[in-house]
Amino acid sequence: MAPVMDNADPRESLRAHLRTATMAAHDLLDHAMQAASGWQTRADYARFLALQHAARAPLEAWIGAHAPRGLAPPPQSGLIARDLAALDCALPAPAPLFTLGRTGAGHALGTAWVLAGSALGNRAIAKQVARIGGGTWPVAFLDDGAMMTFWQGLRERVERPAGIEEAEGATRAAEAVFAHFLAVAEGAQVPEGAAS
Ligand code: HEM
Repeated sequence: MAPVMDNADPRESLRAHLRTATMAAHDLLDHAMQAASGWQTRADYARFLALQHAARAPLEAWIGAHAPRGLAPPPQSGLIARDLAALDCALPAPAPLFTLGRTGAGHALGTAWVLAGSALGNRAIAKQVARIGGGTWPVAFLDDGAMMTFWQGLRERVERPAGIEEAEGATRAAEAVFAHFLAVAEGAQVPEGAAS
């Protein structure tokens, strides 16, 4: 496989590099999640949460086993489980194992960036969910303050250039995390005529 940093500007921050490298994957995932669930009705929102739980549970297991303390985003599957319980929905089966093979430089950083960065999107989704659900739908996950705090700390680390090895590892990990989410979203059954 070609080195991922071939066209990278060494003065570019790691965050800018990761955003560019995964922009298409993020767009694809956004569309796949809107197609698989969206959050227009209570039932849609429950499916959205179930999908998030299924995808995040194996990622959190990977982080627990491989990420150093400062690069381990706070787990969110417990918050999602709480929201699902409040919606009277059962927990979904977790997605298959997430793995990056032998853990290398940048892997934990790239994984942390995707999970913590997703809190930015969640903040936007939380506003829509509050409006659509009239403020009655549970938002422990979307409104997770601990992840936003972690994100603020991570920014300092990613808003500067990284060495080639770390940047390559972070990029591969970020791509793998997006691919993992995409596989979950694309594998999700979209029930016809789901009750709202
Ligand atoms: C469900 C559909 C999704 C929507 C509508 C969405 C929306 C957004 C939005 C609006 C931003 C930019 C926020 C800002 O700059 O203030 C963003 C950034 C981001 N999202 Fe998503 N997102 C979605 C799903 C996801 C998922 C599932 C992940 C990963 C697990 C993810 C990872 C990221 C990352 C890494 C960033 C960039 C962080 C940075 O700026 O460094 N998003 N998203």
